[in-house]
Amino acid sequence: MKYIKTSVENNVITLTITRPQALNALNTEVLSELSTAIREVGEHPDYRCLVIRGSGNRAFVAGADISEMVDYTPEQAFDFSMFGNRVFAQLEQLPIPTIAVVHGYALGGGMELAIACDIRIATPNARFALPETGLGIIPGFGGVFRLGRLIGEGRAKYMMYTGKTVGGEEAYRIGLVELLAQPEELEEMLDDTLKRILNNSQVAIDKLTNIFAYAHADASAADFLQEAEHFKACFAHPDQKERMQSFLDKQNAK
Ligand code: COA
Repeated sequence: MKYIKTSVENNVITLTITRPQALNALNTEVLSELSTAIREVGEHPDYRCLVIRGSGNRAFVAGADISEMVDYTPEQAFDFSMFGNRVFAQLEQLPIPTIAVVHGYALGGGMELAIACDIRIATPNARFALPETGLGIIPGFGGVFRLGRLIGEGRAKYMMYTGKTVGGEEAYRIGLVELLAQPEELEEMLDDTLKRILNNSQVAIDKLTNIFAYAHADASAADFLQEAEHFKACFAHPDQKERMQSFLDKQNAK
């Protein structure tokens, strides 16, 4: 794979999203590789935990790829949203615990990826935001529904309507991340979490992951369709092209 690097240690598989030149932004190719990697994880009998990380020292994932999305037709936008939704649902429904390790930017689709995992560990320099509304769109990979479950509907709406960035410490305070680690403590905290899970009964953990997958499966399918339809409609309005183009123009002028 070009964008997803894999490593395995003690029955724990780590997928590292590796597109550092674009702060690990998710284009269709990255999402496709992620989908394949997650499917393979689900089919492998030996893996007991999955860890997801972003490459480089600046970002977990800085969102869906704006340069790819800018020219989408509404139909392409619908397909992109449904695809992302399927990949993240695959992740959410894996039969093993999943942990996102977040440093730096976790924006838009990157934040949606983190909240599709079971547990999040972040450093204080983590920067979470859903900036989609500033770009004329809405979150399209399940975040609209998942975020409220995690931090409460009011806080979720606040983050989506305002696009405000939440740092690692605030993210910990509001329950957006479960563990906060100074950079030098991060690996130890991750190892400790993994050890605790691996020391427990695999049978019991397996039962829990099954219950969580069942709890979300039916509602999720309808939720994703609803989200993708509205995501699509945003691409039928000039706001989306104007705002994304303006972001890209500013990037080019740097
Ligand atoms: N899609 C596509 N490319 C992206 C990206 C995204 N979501 N986020 C970052 N990149 C690219 C930049 O275009 C830039 O590429 P270039 O060097 O070829 O110009 C590279 O990653 C580095 O980003 P840059 O903007 O130069 O770094 P910065 O430190 O000045 O700013 C961010 C970092 C994350 C604040 C800024 O890149 C940003 O706002 N990105 C978009 C975030 C976003 O809105 N995500 C949600 C999309 S729905």
